[in-house]
Formats: sequence, C-alpha cells, structure tokens
Amino acid sequence: MPLSEIPPAGPAGAAEPPVRSAAVWAALDPLVGDGPLQVLDVGGGAGVFAVPLAQLGHTVTVVDTSADALATLRRRADLAGVGDLVRGVQGDADQLGAVPAPGGGFDLVLVHSVLEVVDEPAVTLAGIAAVLRPGGHLSVTVANRAGAVLARALGGHPVEAHALLGDRDPAPARSRTRPGRRRFGPDELLALVAGAGLTAGDWRGVSVVADLLDTGSGADPAALRRLELDLAGVSPYRDVAGGLHVIAVRGAAATGTGQP
Ligand SMILES: C[S@@+](CC[C@H](N)C(=O)[O-])C[C@H]1O[C@@H](n2cnc3c(N)ncnc32)[C@H](O)[C@@H]1O
Repeated sequence: MPLSEIPPAGPAGAAEPPVRSAAVWAALDPLVGDGPLQVLDVGGGAGVFAVPLAQLGHTVTVVDTSADALATLRRRADLAGVGDLVRGVQGDADQLGAVPAPGGGFDLVLVHSVLEVVDEPAVTLAGIAAVLRPGGHLSVTVANRAGAVLARALGGHPVEAHALLGDRDPAPARSRTRPGRRRFGPDELLALVAGAGLTAGDWRGVSVVADLLDTGSGADPAALRRLELDLAGVSPYRDVAGGLHVIAVRGAAATGTGQP
C-alpha cells in the first residue's frame, strides 16, 4: 500500500484527510515502498508522519522536545497497533548525536515544520547529515515566506503581511513571550540543504490552496487533493504555497536539479 493511501492519524487517533500535505506524502511514496527502513523523525511531534510510516513496517525514532507530544505519539502508535515500531526520545534537534542510531546511520530522516523554531537551522541540518547513512534521504518541510504573506493579506491583515514581506516579525508583541517563527524562500531552503552537504531534488509547494479555504468551503476533498498534487510542482503555484518541501540525498545525485 502506498504511503499516500494511509491517512495520517488525527487527534485521538481519528483519521483525517491528508489534503494539506498530499504532495509530501506523494513525494515520500517512492522512498518508503521497500524496506523496512530505519527512519528518524526530528521534531516528529505526535506522530502525524511517524505512525503511518510504522504502519508500512518501518522502524521510526521520533526525537522531540515536548513530553506531551511524545505521550500522544505513544497513544497513537499503540492505537494503530505499531507501538513496537515507534520509539519516542525526548531531546533536541541540535543534539542528535545523543540519539541511538542504527549501524551506518538512518535510511530516512524527516524534519517537517521544525526548522522554523530551532536555534540555528544550519546546525540542525549538519547534525541530521551526520546521522544519515550514505545514500540515505532527508525530507524537509518549512513555512514558505511568500505563502505566509499571501495568507495574512487574504486574512485581512495587510500590516502583518507587509512585515512578513520584509522578513520582519509580524507580531513583535507576541514574540516577547514566545519565540518568533522563521519563514523561508525556496532558494534559502536549497542553500541550507546544500550547506549540510546534501544533494536536493526538485522542491514543491505544500498546501498551495488547502490552507486558504474556509473549513466550510464544501470543496470535495478528493478533488482538492488531486488539485494540490498537480499544483505542487508547478510555478507560479508552488511559489505561494503555505510550505515548501524538498527531498535530499546524502552523497549522490537526487532526482531533479535542486534549482529554485
Ligand atoms: C509544528 S510541529 C511539527 C510536528 C511534525 N513534524 C509534523 O510535521 O506534523 C513542531 C514540533 O517540533 C518540536 N520541536 C520544537 N523545537 C524542537 C527542537 N529544538 N528539537 C526537537 N523538537 C522540537 C515541537 O515540540 C513540535 O512537536
């Protein structure tokens, strides 16, 4: 069964349609069809990716700073019947050397929606490259600055949109109590990946339209999913998606040019 057909577990184990991340699941499919793989999910949280990967038979280690997220991960994994394949480790993305790794390194590392909040994304990626086996793959998703500008503007917040356009904090008052969240452009993402010594494939947009729709839009989820998949790899649509996704490989050429 391809990964894209396993719905990620929603809150309390309920299934939810993976429309917003359809392109990510589809890009991972060719990598996870064989195995079993040793997977590391950095900042994997409550297991939105880890649990479906374990359902495919892979062994998944999730490293996350949040004890609450890891407790939810444990419940979800047990509920899905894959508790023995999922291991939660409370730890920091910048200290992956402390995480027990398989001999030769991990086959696949995910770092999804985490580089926005780590202390230094280049340090995190260098640490990831060090635990990836030669020929192993990295899957990265990050928030897209252009998509954030568009979403704020369409949400009726032009001042915040303008701040994001200039790469400034859209909510400085809130950031006094909570660290601000980084956004990236495709060129920045590719440079970070290359800086870690990894070879990037083509990048795609994550949630080109799904996050812009009202929950009550009535859009057919299956049609929306097909639309997301077709828009994800095509400019100008991918350029304004909510997120960016790229798969990179350690030490060999990946599919695509890695060019923005
Ligand atoms: C937005 S969630 C993403 C969860 C998951 N990767 C996904 O795509 O569904 C970010 C996760 O990163 C974790 N996190 C934040 N900073 C971290 C750090 N420095 N090291 C490890 N995990 C971190 C948070 O606890 C949270 O679970």
